Amino acid sequence: MAAKIFPSILSADFARLAEEVALISDDADWVHVDVMDNHFVPNLTLGLPVVESLVKHSALPLDCHLMIEDPDRWAPAYAEVGAGSVTIHAEAAKAPIRTLRAIRAAGARAGLGINPATPLEPYEELLGEIDMLLLMTVEPGFGGQKFLDLVLPKVRRARQLIKSRDLAVWLQVDGGVSAETIERCAEAGADVFVAGNAVYGADDPAEAVRLLRAKAEA
Ligand code: DX5
Ligand code: ZN
Repeated sequence: MAAKIFPSILSADFARLAEEVALISDDADWVHVDVMDNHFVPNLTLGLPVVESLVKHSALPLDCHLMIEDPDRWAPAYAEVGAGSVTIHAEAAKAPIRTLRAIRAAGARAGLGINPATPLEPYEELLGEIDMLLLMTVEPGFGGQKFLDLVLPKVRRARQLIKSRDLAVWLQVDGGVSAETIERCAEAGADVFVAGNAVYGADDPAEAVRLLRAKAEA
């Protein structure tokens, strides 16, 4: 399966975001932007104004991963300022169907994110409402954490569901994805790979992206 590599700018230099994105623009597919509010997760990053600016300075579309409370209120605005994809968390959304539809209506791809300890089953019916399912492979909040192998059976089940229903949903893994772990994710059925530390912690981020793609498609 063709792999899509989404470097996460959480591990980039926040004072030079446009340059950091340019480093990987020839090799990566999209750019993953982690929005954290210090409530849904114990960390604070960036929000709507930064995304609105970065859209204008990125050659690649932005994949906004909203780790925030009240995503129902905020998610459509990210689509409106030009994000290519907006992911809300199942654990935070109070009206996920309405919000996912609002994201699509505003012109972006709609994603649903699920934490490592959250089961997939309650959300299976939402697969028809989304363009991407994000299965977190670390507890959300920080880059550079250790990959959680215990999520892999859920990745496998999600791939089976997507296949059996003949859906065009992308299956994304996020957290601890590296040259060491990406093959396991691909083998389980993921096709979109977020990598922060493995890309921006490398001496040559573009080369790191090429290596991840080669491993995922091996
Ligand atoms: C963590 C974020 C991830 C993070 C991944 O909550 O959602 O996108 O940047 O970082 P790495 O790849 O370093 O685990
Ligand atoms: Zn993320």
